[in-house]
Amino acid sequence: MAKIKNLGVLTSGGDAPGMNAAIRAVTRAAIFNNIEVFGIRRGYEGMIDGDIEKLESKDVSGIIQKGGTMLKTARSARFRTPEGRKQAYENLEKFGIDALVVIGGDGSFTGASILSQEYNIPIIGIPGTIDNDLYGTDYTIGYDTCLNTVIEAVDKIRDTASSHNRIFFIEVMGRDAGFVALESGIATGAEVIMIPEVKNQMVELREFLSQRAKSNKSSIIICAEGDDEGNAYEIAKKVESEFPQFDIRVTILGHIQRGGSPSSYDRVSASRMGVAAVEALLDDQKSIMVGLSNGQIVHVPLNKTVKMHKGVPKSLLDVAHILAI
Ligand code: F6P
Repeated sequence: MAKIKNLGVLTSGGDAPGMNAAIRAVTRAAIFNNIEVFGIRRGYEGMIDGDIEKLESKDVSGIIQKGGTMLKTARSARFRTPEGRKQAYENLEKFGIDALVVIGGDGSFTGASILSQEYNIPIIGIPGTIDNDLYGTDYTIGYDTCLNTVIEAVDKIRDTASSHNRIFFIEVMGRDAGFVALESGIATGAEVIMIPEVKNQMVELREFLSQRAKSNKSSIIICAEGDDEGNAYEIAKKVESEFPQFDIRVTILGHIQRGGSPSSYDRVSASRMGVAAVEALLDDQKSIMVGLSNGQIVHVPLNKTVKMHKGVPKSLLDVAHILAI
């Protein structure tokens, strides 16, 4: 394959803390290897609009500690159409961009995989989403910071919950996946954790509340936003009429979970994956995601990571179950 001269980098989908660290790593690793770098703003939207600018090493200085993404991000309906992708590719040609690094989640990688096949352009994905729901990697950039944000908030809610002997339903992000709920639930000692991966959890919740009714103690119930039983308000409503003795409150943590300065783990992992993405391109890789498995960098075909489903580890479910007695 011809040597890559100009690399485009973009962030796409929901932002995640650590995306800036990844942009910095990709930019500097590319420049280190004599490849010019172009930042594409607003994800695929910016690619279609030609919102593209050259990045120098100094342009990515002072961003490693910042949340959000300096390149901005977007979800692009236009990129889902062949016309949108054609326009996007024409802009890449205009800037001489002959390879791409896409930092994002499964929607972003679906687009990347299609573009790579349609136009035979090498694309490397870096997993960046607070949901941690990408197949082939143990970890996605932003997940660790998100967990720390959730833990801090839930600990505070625990103080007020126990002072008033209240039952709190706390909704955390995770449209399709329960990783944030499960791990934050374990870390905060939540009494019940409700996630989309586990079915019929109302039974477990009712059993728990019946027991709790005897002791009148406070409780924290963490609900993933994508839970089958509904959102936290709906779940709380279902139990309210059955357990009128409880003083129930609901907190939706919302987008606070997407912001903030990235944790050290997110910064270091984003830096490792950014460098690995450029090295993968130099190794002639065409359409893969770089990920982390057992602490090591791995390569996973992009089309596999979008097709396959990442389940929550049974071992974590067991830990949550054992510790909830
Ligand atoms: O994909 C990440 C995520 O944080 C989901 O957990 C959440 O449902 C979604 O993004 C919300 O994103 P937005 O408000 O940007 O549409």
